[in-house]
Amino acid sequence: MIDVRGLSHRFGHRTVLSDLSFSLEKGGFAFLTGPSGSGKTTLLRLLHGSLPLQAGQAVVAGHDLAALRPAKLYQLRRDVSVVFQDFKILPERTVVENVALPLTVRGTPKARIEHRVRSILTALRLSELANRRCAELAGGEQQRVAIARAVVAGPRLMLADEPTGNLDWELSLRLLDILRQFSAHGTAILMATHNHALVAAAPDAPVVRLGGGEPDPGGFDVADAAGPDAGSDAAPEAGR
Ligand SMILES: Nc1ncnc2c1ncn2[C@@H]1O[C@H](COP(=O)(O)OP(=O)(O)OP(=O)(O)O)[C@@H](O)[C@H]1O
Ligand SMILES: [Mg+2]
Repeated sequence: MIDVRGLSHRFGHRTVLSDLSFSLEKGGFAFLTGPSGSGKTTLLRLLHGSLPLQAGQAVVAGHDLAALRPAKLYQLRRDVSVVFQDFKILPERTVVENVALPLTVRGTPKARIEHRVRSILTALRLSELANRRCAELAGGEQQRVAIARAVVAGPRLMLADEPTGNLDWELSLRLLDILRQFSAHGTAILMATHNHALVAAAPDAPVVRLGGGEPDPGGFDVADAAGPDAGSDAAPEAGR
């Protein structure tokens, strides 16, 4: 679902990603970790086609990013959904309207939209907020709306940037559980997080680790967290 080989990225003279290689299988679930500024968001933006590839290869949901022309980006976006760090939900619309959006734009039949939206809202404990305007919601509630919208259309791959950043521990664990259930149903998920405890809560999930190989204070053991068939490979020079 993701196959990255020798990926590097610079902003001006600053190298953010250096010779990164990893892969993620169909329906797989992996964490993306590393300190602030190590390039997690940059990597997710590259994989979503919102930053152009500078060096290396990346095949994402069957799309070769090096060969993908801007006019064909919509094909990638149909298969790959993303939850941004700042959510990007529509504040003046209701929860239901936001979550239904990916299905509405595809012309999905109304009854199917209602069914899908209802089941996703239930899974994310958002049912009671269904008809509230998103601007009125708490940060963690908005974050869950963004996640609901990202999975509602059953994408092949979901890229999630700190999806638990505004959630308390119990909700974070619940969200992790839900995302892993989605991945078991066939949506591959790459989830960026700072939260070591969350990574430790899913010890079988592979970890793609950015940021120079120095363990964070209180960090986790990548080899243990990654398990025997981890498709990850850190970027030793990233951030320098
Ligand atoms: N558009 C840009 N122009 C120049 N530099 C950028 C740009 N976007 C990101 N950077 C720099 O690239 C580095 C990596 O940023 P990025 O947002 O990918 O880090 P991150 O790992 O997601 O951090 P955080 O955990 O704080 O979200 C940072 O030093 C950042 O300042
Ligand atoms: Mg980031």
